[in-house]
Amino acid sequence: VVRHFQPKVLSGRHVLITAGPTFEAIDPVRGLTNRSSGKMGFALARAAHEAGAQVTLVAGPVALPTPRGVQRVDVMSAQDMQRAVQASADAADVFIAAAAVADWRPANAAGQKIKKDGSGEVPALAFVENPDILAGVAQGARAKGGALYCVGFAAESHDLLAHAQAKRARKGVPLLVGNIGPDTFGRDDNALLLVDEGGTTELPRDGKLALARRLVAEIARRLPRG
Ligand code: CTP
Ligand code: CA
Repeated sequence: VVRHFQPKVLSGRHVLITAGPTFEAIDPVRGLTNRSSGKMGFALARAAHEAGAQVTLVAGPVALPTPRGVQRVDVMSAQDMQRAVQASADAADVFIAAAAVADWRPANAAGQKIKKDGSGEVPALAFVENPDILAGVAQGARAKGGALYCVGFAAESHDLLAHAQAKRARKGVPLLVGNIGPDTFGRDDNALLLVDEGGTTELPRDGKLALARRLVAEIARRLPRG
């Protein structure tokens, strides 16, 4: 049996993590979602707990077991996720936004199942933009004052470095983590590009749990002494 004794680099810290997709209702039986599996966010929750942190994991709809010792809050929509994050952010020292939050939601979810009326006409869906959960937290006083360290993720199809740098600035977060493609969704491995004020660090391809442990160590190094 290989045991991983992780140094307790996050002991005494509270880490808040979002994971998985969100689900935006169209009507009571239909909705809009995406292909995020939640695996990276759940691996980060496990790794942060192993590192001694108290962990709150806000999870969209995924079929994954809750990591041992982790407090899990299940949500569906981006708005639900934002409420759950806001309820825990004041107590957190680190916020890791690993969720693939739907950028838009149907403007008016129907209260009843939309029925075909036999005419062959299709329903017209109008969308509104969802709140940016990460940017909202990063603009808060505790994040701006350095008491809450915010980490964003980015999955890009092209020009990862340029997009990650721009996203880091736009979100106002100290650390932005790019998924080095192609197509990380649902896979068990990944490679990461860390972008912070000092430049870039690459975490080479590995299993998501091994990568999560390395990323947790990288985050811990960047925290103010607590
Ligand atoms: N994010 C968030 N709330 C949203 C959208 C994104 O908290 N409504 C977070 C994600 O969890 C991720 C980071 O912001 O940590 C970047 O998400 P991404 O989808 O890559 O960026 P967007 O700003 O939505 O831009 P785009 O999808 O157009 O690239
Ligand atoms: Ca997006």
